[in-house]
Amino acid sequence: MSKITIEGQHLLSGEVNISGAKNSAVALLPAAVLSNKKSVIYNVPEIKDIDYLIKIMELLNCKIEQKDNNLYIDNSEMINIPIPEELSVQMRASYYFMGALLAKYGKVEISFPGGCNIGARPIDIHIKSFEELGAKVEILKNRYIITADNLVGKTIYFDFPSVGATINVMLAATGAKGTTIIENAAMEPEIVNVASFLINMGIKVRGAGTKRIEIDGTKKTKNGVVEVFPDRIESGTYIIIGALLGENLKIKGIIKEHLEALLFKLEEIGIEYEIEGDTMTISKCNNLKATNIKTLVFPGFPTDLQQPMTTLLTQAKGISVIEETIYENRFKNTYDLNRMGAITNIVTLNKLEIKGPRKLKGTKVIATDLRGGASLLIAGLIADGITEIDNCEYILRGYSHITTKLRSIGAKIEITE
Ligand code: EPU
Repeated sequence: MSKITIEGQHLLSGEVNISGAKNSAVALLPAAVLSNKKSVIYNVPEIKDIDYLIKIMELLNCKIEQKDNNLYIDNSEMINIPIPEELSVQMRASYYFMGALLAKYGKVEISFPGGCNIGARPIDIHIKSFEELGAKVEILKNRYIITADNLVGKTIYFDFPSVGATINVMLAATGAKGTTIIENAAMEPEIVNVASFLINMGIKVRGAGTKRIEIDGTKKTKNGVVEVFPDRIESGTYIIIGALLGENLKIKGIIKEHLEALLFKLEEIGIEYEIEGDTMTISKCNNLKATNIKTLVFPGFPTDLQQPMTTLLTQAKGISVIEETIYENRFKNTYDLNRMGAITNIVTLNKLEIKGPRKLKGTKVIATDLRGGASLLIAGLIADGITEIDNCEYILRGYSHITTKLRSIGAKIEITE
């Protein structure tokens, strides 16, 4: 188990670069198996989930070369074998092999995906949609065997605009005869990133980024090239850090349109920033005001920034209320935040009150999930004294080189095994 140690209250200046988006990259790697031969993915973040996906692809006999942050993938000798449980349970995104391998081979065998424990996280929408396209799904304990002699395109309505199901059905639909239409699709930027890769491979995808996506199936794909978008959640996390500790801190790799909901909330709280091109400059802001936040699907306030935002709101005057509508169990970070001196109170299962401003004090804490870990790390950066975060593997799953990046802008932060 690794541990992050932070000496708090150091101001941060200089420039930090945002890496490629985790939640795009983890879909783009499985999508690459659809390319007929070769593909290139630029700007891949260096995080654990990517290492596991590469291991799975190597078992499928994809040849992968890594140069800088780019992956060069050759599928010419690819095979389809069951994906071992010890790899698929390491991360949620392993489920994208369901859609991709089903489209390419008409068969996939994989265990139930892993991921952070932040709620029940069923995959019923994915499974129901594969069945609607003509696949047969057998579930043996937690193992899924999905087969289809012929997938046939049709209109599928999602009860909820799930990010994972939208991408998975887009991937499966590439192998279906005719056109598949997804109604009430997710509109997150990650969907657009994956669609652009499929289009580059010669697959016709229309409407990605809107509620209705159309995919024309084809097995005749070309080599594909794609660049991973900058990570909007990593961007948001560094923006929050900048608002608390920045001294003309520059954050490079910002796509403003991906961050509107956060930026509006920051303005409400009293945070000032400047954006020029893809770079934001931000400094520590005083006299922050409480606000209310409701997490929603894109373009609403992202659930993945809810926990980092909670730490920011411990420094705002008044009572803030956060309503979490995406997951049932995403307030676990508040237990340790309170131990550090915050006053937060879970009023109902999905509603949190935060009373501020509060001075935080460093102590020993435990990361229970990725973004909850980020929330504690931000708390450690602003707290008086030393904070030790155990279980920090969770944080490393989603933030590329986080301790190196923070040290380069002046934080006193170390990671030890
Ligand atoms: N849901 C269902 N049935 C389904 C699919 C989803 O009930 O078949 C529910 C989930 O249980 C959850 C909600 O719908 O309550 C949202 O799930 P969604 O499918 O949209 O999320 P996901 O694809 O599992 C991705 C990201 C998450 C991010 C969400 C929402 C990846 C690998 N994960 O998850 O990222 O929170 O979209 O934006 O892309 C993170 O990065 O910390 C993280 C958890």
